[in-house]
Amino acid sequence: MIIIKLGGSIITNKQKPLTAKPKIINTIVEKLKTVDEQYIIIHGGGSFGHYWSVKYNMHTEAKNYDKRGISVVKNSMIELNKIVLDVFYKNDLFPYVFPASNFIDIDGKPIQKKIIEMKEITEAGLIPITYGDVLWYIDKKSYILSGDKIMTILAKLLKPRLCIFVLNENGIYSDFNKKKLIYNLDDAKPDVKIINDATGGIKRKYEEAKLIKELKLKVFFTNGNKPSRIIDAINDVRFEGTTFE
Ligand code: IPE
Repeated sequence: MIIIKLGGSIITNKQKPLTAKPKIINTIVEKLKTVDEQYIIIHGGGSFGHYWSVKYNMHTEAKNYDKRGISVVKNSMIELNKIVLDVFYKNDLFPYVFPASNFIDIDGKPIQKKIIEMKEITEAGLIPITYGDVLWYIDKKSYILSGDKIMTILAKLLKPRLCIFVLNENGIYSDFNKKKLIYNLDDAKPDVKIINDATGGIKRKYEEAKLIKELKLKVFFTNGNKPSRIIDAINDVRFEGTTFE
């Protein structure tokens, strides 16, 4: 099986609060129709979840955040998730929404049998779709769980043959300003400056990729504006992006 994370920057316009990019989501999903293998989708927050979490100063650390912030971040993620679900459904792919609170316990630990349930859902021909979210924590705290972290949590248990991070960039660069693409992360030092969002931007993705690689799994970062690159990687034809294995 494969796990695909659709980054917030590819499914939303990060410059414009609360603005999705339904056309891009649709071109990606149209391509996914050709995939003949089970997969799980994770999506990020982009200008929905991140917009509000930055406004309310909410992070990945568990704290007593503002009630209004918790509600609005959660609501905005539902809104973005609904857009994603609808695109899948309209393309005759059958999404099965599976919020992170279904498979993460109050102590932040993954609930194994729920994650296995996701695999069973793929076996029945549905596509589990989950997303970065605000999660409730012990002592009446809450925290932001990024979709990138979800990738590692699911990968650990489900051992997918490929973990794909779909970005609004060609992959990971050794020089961000010059957009010098690293084809293989073993060969060069990535330029991963922290981006001002709740979960750490590209740096977080890189950190998660390192953890996934340690599990002896393959990670691939690619550009969602060129969705055939996702399909080429799935079909093992070509890896136009950054590979880490
Ligand atoms: C963020 O998820 C979720 C919230 C802010 C609630 P991600 O951290 O995975 O989002 P992107 O992909 O970086 O936008």
